[in-house]
Parts: sequence; structure tokens; C-alpha cells
Amino acid sequence: MNFEEIKKYWEDRAAGDSSAQSTTQDFYLREIEYNVLLEKIQKYSPDSVADVGCGDGRTTARLAGKLPNVLFSGFDYSLFMVENARHNSLTEELSNIQFDQLDICAGLKETFDLIYTTRCLINLPSWDLQKIAIDNIHGALSIGGVYLMVENFIEGQKNFNQVRKNYGLSEIPIREHNFFFQRDRLFDYIDGRFKIDEEVNISSTYYLMSRVIYSKICAETGQQPDYFDDHHRFAAGLPFAGEFGPVRLICLKKL
Ligand SMILES: C[S@@+](CC[C@H](N)C(=O)[O-])C[C@H]1O[C@@H](n2cnc3c(N)ncnc32)[C@H](O)[C@@H]1O
Repeated sequence: MNFEEIKKYWEDRAAGDSSAQSTTQDFYLREIEYNVLLEKIQKYSPDSVADVGCGDGRTTARLAGKLPNVLFSGFDYSLFMVENARHNSLTEELSNIQFDQLDICAGLKETFDLIYTTRCLINLPSWDLQKIAIDNIHGALSIGGVYLMVENFIEGQKNFNQVRKNYGLSEIPIREHNFFFQRDRLFDYIDGRFKIDEEVNISSTYYLMSRVIYSKICAETGQQPDYFDDHHRFAAGLPFAGEFGPVRLICLKKL
């Protein structure tokens, strides 16, 4: 899919669904992401935070509710997503949050102490566009600012699919609106722009449980996999270990 087709995909999805699954079916993956974001935002203690590609704004609003002294700005290029996000945060009566429509490839207009993305840049259909987005995030960070990158990588995707194969399960393909990062290529590019403060695969144990063990149980018992099954719920609480899932957190400090 090209840029416009992907943008339309998200507009259509937001127009037809404002539920907690409007940005991903995988509810418990968002729980993992929320928990690591909260921990890292507390660690870096910024005054201002931008959530780029905030989707329905639920994660942004939860963080803003938990951290009332931090100013949160949520951005998304889909107007329907922004409207859903505004609606969701209104019901929580938060005064430290705002949402605006913005395409990260066009750049941010203000500076922030901390910027994060959760599975946003994988919706840009080329490495060239992803590099523009990374440059724009870098340019919008204050001196010493932090970029928390929560994005999908091809290496972890291949690794868990190899385990699935060993269990006689079919490969889970990358969705046609997604373009995953290659770790080495990314690290070459950010060298000189950012210092890597921390890096962890936050989806490895979760994927081994949900996409291998639970998938195998479903295949053998004829069950339809359910994102709200207890295997997902309990897997979300496992410690992080290994490289068997696509989603990683990389904490990047602006140089
Ligand atoms: C997979 S969803 C993730 C949403 C949210 N971060 C979450 O964790 O639920 C990706 C979001 O990124 C947004 N997005 C994709 N490309 C974008 C761009 N170039 N600029 C701003 N938002 C973008 C989409 O509209 C969508 O809401």
C-alpha cells in the first residue's frame, strides 16, 4: 500500500470504530506498551511529552491522568482518530492534554522534552519516509530530549515465525499497511543523531505465549484465537526475555 492508501486505511478504521481495539486488535500488547511508557516517562521526568501517531488517544490519556504535572500533546494524521482521542480524553476531564491533526512527515511545530511513537512509523511505506520522520522527531526534541521508539522490527518477526514453524504453525505475515524496521540499518542511521540509552524487546515472551503456545492450543483444539483469552492476559505480565517478538522499545537521547 502507498502512503495515501495507508492513511485512508486508518481514517476508515477510526470512522468505523472508536473502541479500545481501533488501533490494534491486540489489547494486551497495548497494556505492555502503556506500562513501559509510564515507567520510562517517570524515569526521564520530562515537562512536555508528544505522542506521535496517538490513534484513539487512550494510551496518551491514561498517561496524562497518571502524570498530571506533565503536558501531553497527541498527534495523528487521521482526523477521525484525533476526534476519537479528543472525545476519549474529554470523558476523563484532563487539563494536561491536547490532540491535533499532524503528519509526522511534515514535521512538528513545537519542541518537546520527550516524544514517543507506538507502532506509528511502521505505517510509513518506505525507509526514506521513516528517515524523514526520525529527523523530524529529532528536530522537535529539546536539548538532551528523549525519543521512546516503540516500533516493530523484522528480526523479531522472523524469529517468532521460525518457532511457529517448529510447532507446525503457519507464518504470520506482516500486514500490507506495515513496513517494519531493520535494526542494523536503523542503528547506522541514528548514529551521530541519538545515543542509545536502553533497548529491550518488549514483545518476545508475550509473542511466545500468545502466538506460539496459545496458537498451538487453538490449532489442536479447534478454538478460534481470542485476543482477550487468559493466555494473552497472563502473557502480558511475563518478564521481558529473548528476541522472539516484533515490538521493541528503544530509548534514544538526542545528541
Ligand atoms: C497502529 S496505530 C497505533 C496508535 C497508537 N499509537 C496506539 O498505540 O494505539 C498507528 C497510528 O499512527 C497513525 N499514523 C500513521 N502514519 C502517521 C503519520 N505519518 N503521521 C501521524 N500519524 C500517523 C495512524 O493514523 C494510527 O492512528
